[in-house]
This record gives sequence, structure tokens and C-alpha cells, in this order.
Amino acid sequence: MPKADRSSSQVLDILKDRLGTYVSGNFLAAAANLSRTGVWKHIRKLKAQGYHILTHPKEGYQLVDLPDRLTPEEVLPHLRTSWLGQNYHHYVEIGSTNDQAMLLATRGAPHGTTVVAEEQTRGRGRMKRTWVSPPGCGIYVSTVFVNPLPLRVAPQSTTAASLALVRVLRRHYSLPALIKWPNDVLIGGRKIAGVLAEMQSDQDFTRFLVIGVGINVNQKGRDLAGPFRYPAGSLATELGFEVSRRDLLVAFLQEFERVYETFEREGFEGILPEYKALSAMMGKRIRVQRGDEEIAGVASGFSSEGALELLREDGTLERLWVGDVTRIGNFDAT
Ligand code: BTN
Repeated sequence: MPKADRSSSQVLDILKDRLGTYVSGNFLAAAANLSRTGVWKHIRKLKAQGYHILTHPKEGYQLVDLPDRLTPEEVLPHLRTSWLGQNYHHYVEIGSTNDQAMLLATRGAPHGTTVVAEEQTRGRGRMKRTWVSPPGCGIYVSTVFVNPLPLRVAPQSTTAASLALVRVLRRHYSLPALIKWPNDVLIGGRKIAGVLAEMQSDQDFTRFLVIGVGINVNQKGRDLAGPFRYPAGSLATELGFEVSRRDLLVAFLQEFERVYETFEREGFEGILPEYKALSAMMGKRIRVQRGDEEIAGVASGFSSEGALELLREDGTLERLWVGDVTRIGNFDAT
């Protein structure tokens, strides 16, 4: 963790230990090995990150409550990864974390650079849709991968993100999460998360790849009302209680690093059996929108290159590389 973040983290830890009471500037300065001005600068930064800190000219500083923030001070001390998220950028508000990650990547950001925002004002989804990203209740995270991937392999890398998230939701929250091809995460037919990948490439290889993930965590009522083309849910609505975004983000990044490493080593085939087992569509009648055309059939598998295999009524097997699944069984899926 950079020194500045470490000092803010120390100041924050002391204020957290004394939650609801004042701590003097002198005490903070001595404990965090900072000058009084240094303390004040870190307090100002923490306030800008959204911490509710009171300042009293004589008594010092008081942290009023414990907000669920995704700041480096909250996330990095808990993150057990080798490279994913170790270069961590946090924004209180941003247009789109994917745009910011692309920008950082063009400027030479290292492999695993991670951009997180509390709120997105221009969050984007697949098919030019909007990703509604209200402040403080979802996870909006984009990760940069600069290790070159062959271009025919790159699109399947996104499955590492949805698979990692589904693993975490099942193992840590006992939620029956499934994947809707290519990368939507569903619980009980409701969309909880989506993945948007963008890249720049040289001739045959990626120059860099950005994988953005949006997770509905503590959204409720109005924030889930739309305008969506699909029934949306959140972890809070599924579980009946609020979830720590910090814990979920940490668990997700750790699992994502693991699955991505498998993908780099073994390709899509290395994760295909689990991806297929966790598919919301296998063996079901589905409809897929591909451009202007709607194709119906039974979802029967995935090719080793990540194409969806659809058994048509006339007995032919169609391989789909892109598309939007609009119906699964009797349920509308978009
Ligand atoms: C989809 O299901 O259509 C994909 C949604 C992807 C949303 C995430 S939120 C973080 C990142 N930044 C964006 O603007 N989009 C992705």
C-alpha cells in the first residue's frame, strides 16, 4: 500500500477504535508518525472519500459512524492477492470505471490495476445500455489486464469474472447464483450482476483488456425499479439483509485472480466444465437476439472457444458467438 494510503489507514483505524468520541490531533500525530498538518491533510482526504468526521477546535476529530466504503484504506489491508487490485484507484464519483481503466491502461497501468467507484454517472452495459449505478450501494469495478492474450481467446476471458463472482456468492453467501451466457449473474431469474469487457489490440494479441463488473449489492426499491429490460435484483433483496460491499469486493478480487490465472494457463477449457455446470440455461429452451434476428432452440453446451451451442428444432446445431438471451424456458430474460 502506498505510504499516503498507509497513513490515512492508520488515522482511520484509530478513529474507528474510538468511534463516536473525539481523538486529539496531537494523539493522532504521534500514533501515525505525522505532523499536525499531516493529520489534517489525511482527515480532509478521508472526509472527501465520504467518511463522516467531526472536527472540534479543542477536542480534535471524531468518526461518527462506520460507512461501508470501498476506499484503499478499507480494501487493501484485507486483500490477499498477488497482483489483482494491488494498484487500486478509488473514486467517490466517476463517469464509468471502464472508461477510467481504459485511460489508465493507455498510460501504462500495470497488470491487475483496479478502478472502483462509489457511484457512476455514465455507467455502461452491454449493447449500449445504461448501467444504473447509484452511490454507495453497488460495486462498480474495472480491472486492467496487460498480459497479451491471443485475440481469439480474449472474449472468453470475461467468463473468469462471472464464474469468480458466482463462486463467491455460492460459497460465502449460500446464494443459488447462476450464469446467463455470456456473463450475466442471476439469482432466481433476477439479474444481480453484469460484465462489460473492452480492449485495445495489436495485430493478433490484446494490448490490454479491461473487464468491468457491476454488482447490485444493497440496492432496494427505487434503485431496482428500472428502467431495465430484465427483472433486476440485489444481494440485499435476495438475502433480506445488507451486505458489506468491502467484504464482497475483497472476496471477488481474490477469486477473480485465481480463476483468471487458471484461464491464462489452461484457456477457456480449464473453466468450461464449471461454467457449464453453473449455467442458467443448459437443457432449456431459449431465445437469443442476434442483431435483427431472433433464434430459438435448446441450449446444449459451449464450444471450447466459448460459443453457445444451440440445438435448433430442425436438429441442426448452431454456434453463437454474440447475442443476447431474451428468454429462458418460460421466463423473459432481458
Ligand atoms: C451488462 O450486463 O450489460 C454489463 C454491465 C457492466 C457494468 C459495469 S459497472 C463497472 C463497469 N463500468 C461501466 O461503465 N460498466 C461496467
